[in-house]
Amino acid sequence: MPKRGIAQIFISIDGKTVLSEARKIKTKLITEIDNQNLSDQIKVFETGSISSINQGVIVGVYPTGEMYRNMTEQDIEEFIEERFIKGRPYKKLLISEKLQSEMDLVDIDLRETQYFGRIVLSNCGRINPEDIEEYIGVNGYEALGIALKEKTPEEVIKIVKDSGLQGRGGAGFPTGLKWSFAAQEKESPKYVICNADEGEPGTFKDRLIMEGDPHKILEGMAICAYAIGANIGYIYIRGEYQLSIQRLQKAIKDAEKLGFLGQNIFDTDFDFEVKIKIGAGSYICGEETALLNSMEGFRGEPRLKPPFPAKLGFLSKPTNVNNVETLANIAPIILNGAEWFKKFGTESSPGTKVYTILGHVKRPGLIEVPMGFTLREIIYNYAGGMSSGEFKMAQIGGTAGDILSIELLDVSLDYLSLQMEGHNLGSGAILVMNEKVSVVDFLKCCMKFFIHESCGRCSVCRIGAKQLYESFSRLEKKEAYFDELKNIEELAEGLKLTAFCPLGQSIASPVLSALKYFRAELEEGIDPKKVHEPVTRETNDKMLNFS
Ligand SMILES: Cc1cc2nc3c(=O)[nH]c(=O)nc-3n(C[C@H](O)[C@H](O)[C@H](O)COP(=O)(O)O)c2cc1C
Ligand code: SF4
Repeated sequence: MPKRGIAQIFISIDGKTVLSEARKIKTKLITEIDNQNLSDQIKVFETGSISSINQGVIVGVYPTGEMYRNMTEQDIEEFIEERFIKGRPYKKLLISEKLQSEMDLVDIDLRETQYFGRIVLSNCGRINPEDIEEYIGVNGYEALGIALKEKTPEEVIKIVKDSGLQGRGGAGFPTGLKWSFAAQEKESPKYVICNADEGEPGTFKDRLIMEGDPHKILEGMAICAYAIGANIGYIYIRGEYQLSIQRLQKAIKDAEKLGFLGQNIFDTDFDFEVKIKIGAGSYICGEETALLNSMEGFRGEPRLKPPFPAKLGFLSKPTNVNNVETLANIAPIILNGAEWFKKFGTESSPGTKVYTILGHVKRPGLIEVPMGFTLREIIYNYAGGMSSGEFKMAQIGGTAGDILSIELLDVSLDYLSLQMEGHNLGSGAILVMNEKVSVVDFLKCCMKFFIHESCGRCSVCRIGAKQLYESFSRLEKKEAYFDELKNIEELAEGLKLTAFCPLGQSIASPVLSALKYFRAELEEGIDPKKVHEPVTRETNDKMLNFS
């Protein structure tokens, strides 16, 4: 048989495909390659998630770059026969070039314009996340070397400030500025914490970043630690993220072995170690001060701010908390410079954003696009358009996010533009809904989540979420009071003003945005004749019975 050159087959293994027996498919691939005496010509390796979440197990072939979806064990023999013996694509499962491009699977070099390409996900689906050599092969840990050998901590902070990077955990706070606060503190030790709690429904971008490129996060943490003067880092990660935990643990061990973590990194006097703390799965523990309580072994309840963690953080020491995606931007920024980073995105929000798209779209999944792309572009260019029906609304930023109507399809998705419309970008989840989804029903689901996740510390949140749920239940049954919407609005405004932490405040987001864009639909649930009974001891007790 003629030699066809060395090929590499990569198989995408993430927290989801691992459940579709991706590892068995990998074993079968290796066995079949062996059976065909092709082991010296074809190498099989694992990558993290490639992008889309409804394409089953994705297998790619390098150097040609074609990809196959929904691969099963039963396809392997035929795939190897067609692709590597007969030398033609395995058409049955081939993803067309057009679809690859729409699915954001094509890397930066193949795109025609600088506005496409990945920063955070550049290695996801391209390298084996469990092999540190592969990370080094794509300039991994070079940025850390540059920072330690050629820059002072102040210079590193200046580069991050100049890049305009804003925290990707939801609030969009400028990262360089945050680092400068922790750097100014004299107390020691200081800590760097990577917030990998990711409890927002519909958000799984951080998981896929960790599964696909764990070293990039470690490198970002080490650069941050050098910049602020910390020697210890923690990754606070939710317990359900088993594959992420395994890959991060391996990455930490490998980085320690090669001297990228540990003592005297790059022969300097900088020491840095990283530990993993596993969370117990409460949404509030993603809030940075509740996270600190949880790490210290206390109940996961938020703390009063100020003081901010930069001053009084983990164990009352200066602490910098950043989101996974924020930290994954750091090494590319140090390597390529602030000006390079600013070429992506908008003037006020440079860089890219990783989104998870779900709901009534043809291709739900993970994409990374420059800040400033519109909802329309994301839904119709990247997610393949609506899977059924017409676009009605999208909730952005998870359950704590705003509901946007069709009027906002063309608004630029970046922190400032959304703020000017009275909305927030949030964590990066986009839930798309068609005309069949009832706003009232959807709001009921949101309130159910908040009832479950309220930590219970303050009554406006604990009881408010329940009362809103009951209001939406009455609207659903068309039995709402004549002034129900007014009461809902007042309660939501009250939550915004008086809830102790952003969780309680954010209950107002879906409610007030729905009132803004879908008031007429909500009004349909009102019975104009229904008035409140006078409040008696009995009715009051009934109201407070939350069973
Ligand atoms: C209820 C709640 C949950 C949160 N969950 C997360 C989370 O899972 N991951 C995260 O990075 N930030 C989360 N945040 C935001 C954090 O408090 C904090 O702002 C963020 O980790 C800072 O990182 P950044 O500056 O890189 O965005 C949450 C905030 C709230 C109010
Ligand atoms: S607003 Fe809600 S989540 Fe926040 S402290 Fe109060 S009860 Fe807890």
